[in-house]
Amino acid sequence: VANTKVAVLGAAGGIGQPLSMLCKLSNEIDELSCYDIVGTPGVAADLSHIPTKSKMIGSLPHPGSWPPRSDDGLAEALTGADVVVIPAGVPRKPGMTRDDLFNTNASIVQTLVEGCAEHCPEAVLAIISNPVNSTVPIAAEVLKKKGVYDPSKLCGVTTLDVCRANTFVANSQGWDPKDVDVTVIGGHAGITILPLFSQVPGMKVSDEEREALTVRTQFGGDEVVKAKAGAGSATLSMAYAGYLFTENVIKAMNGADDIVQCAYVESTLTDAPYFASPCKFGKNGVEEVLGFGELSDYEQQWFDKMLPDLKKQIQKGIDFVN
Ligand code: APR
Repeated sequence: VANTKVAVLGAAGGIGQPLSMLCKLSNEIDELSCYDIVGTPGVAADLSHIPTKSKMIGSLPHPGSWPPRSDDGLAEALTGADVVVIPAGVPRKPGMTRDDLFNTNASIVQTLVEGCAEHCPEAVLAIISNPVNSTVPIAAEVLKKKGVYDPSKLCGVTTLDVCRANTFVANSQGWDPKDVDVTVIGGHAGITILPLFSQVPGMKVSDEEREALTVRTQFGGDEVVKAKAGAGSATLSMAYAGYLFTENVIKAMNGADDIVQCAYVESTLTDAPYFASPCKFGKNGVEEVLGFGELSDYEQQWFDKMLPDLKKQIQKGIDFVN
């Protein structure tokens, strides 16, 4: 891609700001556009003073109304985008599950993806807005209705689950986290998240430790929600994960032929129509949905438990649009 452009929708939020900052620092990105319904000019002006390669796009998007008007900057933010990262929405408060966000975030994602269908139908969309298990199917239905759906260009970002699993395993084994790459499959909420520790070379844990690491990976987000005591959910680690994911997508677009990362995508690996697993990325997004190897008996139990929940959350997204 000659001039790589990334758009961040929800750029003034807790995730959006550090994510935009990391993108501004990236050597892979030439143009960065930030869009939000409040506070965007401040974020964009602020970032524009950082002397890096990437340019903030043209006239800075100004605050718009809800639902977005045609002149609120969304078109400008999206036009020419290669990757659109979407962390727009409301975050969790203590005691809430990701599914509790559905009512608000479903329509936000629907509207923003309609904009993507219109202004950058070829872009790879990276969905962060929760519940990802449902918002990705929502995005797919919107794109189908607009006649521009390409399964290789729609991903839910589950990279934070991988980051958490890597961190927790590294801590437990006394390893450098950079040397760990846990495969995490399924979805992006509670028991739909399944880290495959049986596939981590050299990892030694007791049954109890394995259980604790599995549950901590599944519910790591709750740790942050609780610690933030009402101020929201994970933002900095999610921003880092979203940035890692985005950079990898761009590297593959620009010809790197060794990019494999977990993503929540349309999939025929299981009877859930969307499923996170390792994916090979290429010039056009997801080149191949890779399998995830053999499960241990322990993992198989979680897998069997996960599928009904995941399928229900997917159907909820599909029904919302239809
Ligand atoms: N278009 C653009 N931006 C929007 C829209 C919209 N229609 N609706 C809301 N936003 C913006 C808000 O103005 C805010 O700046 O999205 C941003 C969300 O930021 P926060 O409220 O700080 O939430 P954050 O912690 O970043 O989480 C956002 O990501 O991980 C998920 O569960 C999390 O769904 C939540 C989302």
